[in-house]
Amino acid sequence: MNKKTIRDIDVEGKRALVRVDFNVPLDPDTGAILDDSRIKATLPTLTYLLDHGASLVICSHIGRPKGRVVERLRMAPISQHLASCIAGSISTAPECVGDMVTTAASRLRPGEMLMLENLRFNPGEESNDPEFARCLASLGDIFVNDAFGTAHRAHASTVGVARCLPAVAGLLMEKELEFLGMALENPRRPFTALLGGAKISDKMAVLERLLERLDVLLIGGGMAGTFLKAKGLEIGGSLLEEESLEFVSKIMATGSDRGIPVVLPVDVVVGDSFDADATPEIHGVGDVPEDGQIMDIGPETIDLFEEHLKKSETVFWNGPMGVYEFPAFAQGTRRMAQVLARLEATTVVGGGSTADAVIGLGLAGEMDHVSTGGGASLEFLEGKILPGVAALMDR
Ligand code: 3PG
Repeated sequence: MNKKTIRDIDVEGKRALVRVDFNVPLDPDTGAILDDSRIKATLPTLTYLLDHGASLVICSHIGRPKGRVVERLRMAPISQHLASCIAGSISTAPECVGDMVTTAASRLRPGEMLMLENLRFNPGEESNDPEFARCLASLGDIFVNDAFGTAHRAHASTVGVARCLPAVAGLLMEKELEFLGMALENPRRPFTALLGGAKISDKMAVLERLLERLDVLLIGGGMAGTFLKAKGLEIGGSLLEEESLEFVSKIMATGSDRGIPVVLPVDVVVGDSFDADATPEIHGVGDVPEDGQIMDIGPETIDLFEEHLKKSETVFWNGPMGVYEFPAFAQGTRRMAQVLARLEATTVVGGGSTADAVIGLGLAGEMDHVSTGGGASLEFLEGKILPGVAALMDR
């Protein structure tokens, strides 16, 4: 981590413009916050700044309103929720820039907080408009970026403002970069990656990059079907990415050349339709019925993966093992989460649906790190430079 953080600068008496990622899932009917992990994950940064005498102008986006005001995507409920998690009151601005906001920000005293309206109500946010960035930056003396989940977006509030103010990482950003960076640069060995999820095409670059670092690669989830097919097995009506067959064959060949086991399921749970009510049946991988679909890993595979995981010192997990939204096909994902939760190894869970599954099972606290970034964590692991990180001051 070669970027400056809030610990490297004097924040006392300063107004900190803090970019967070409060893009949390909302109930479509009631607007209730369905998962507040992203809000709670920023509390160490916000508390540190408040305890060290700063006042805070907090900003985030929610959803994709595309430069227009969308009533159900206002920040007020998020602001109220944050106030219930942190000691101190928060006022909520009706806009992100403008005279009213400037006045409210200028009146903040140390220990006080102002939450701006959804950044993406303004078209200048996503286009990284320099004027919008300048107006945002005028609200603070320093810029703190704690929005790892949005660090892959070169927007006004992630990149533009960093050109106008001294820009440092928050503590969540620091933790994300440390844990994900450790998996890429300096994992304790053996280092095992457990990869799943539906699509290989989303994870090709990550697979290639991880294969340069790994000791063992475990493959489950929908993507396993394409690996099995590439090995000549019939997979019935399971998800198949024909265009990725050559790629997965190359991954298996590279693994074999480098002595890295690429471990595929030996048995699977098959459904007769892609449906929560589908009847689950366990089959060996050579025995998937013609009209069946692979929807989870089977019990023998769970044991096999567990054996490898138990021998690991570092585990990175990205992608559910099956259709975990359907209880009959959630066993593989649940068991893997339980196994990781008990390991002595350093456990790092990628964001997005894997994080949702671990949080839903109540096991997030048992992992060393659960990333708050979906797309951002994948791009980071692909080795891409995230613009929101690059924009911060170097140590
Ligand atoms: C996310 O949820 O991945 C981030 O908040 C970024 O959101 P976006 O994909 O709409 O840019």
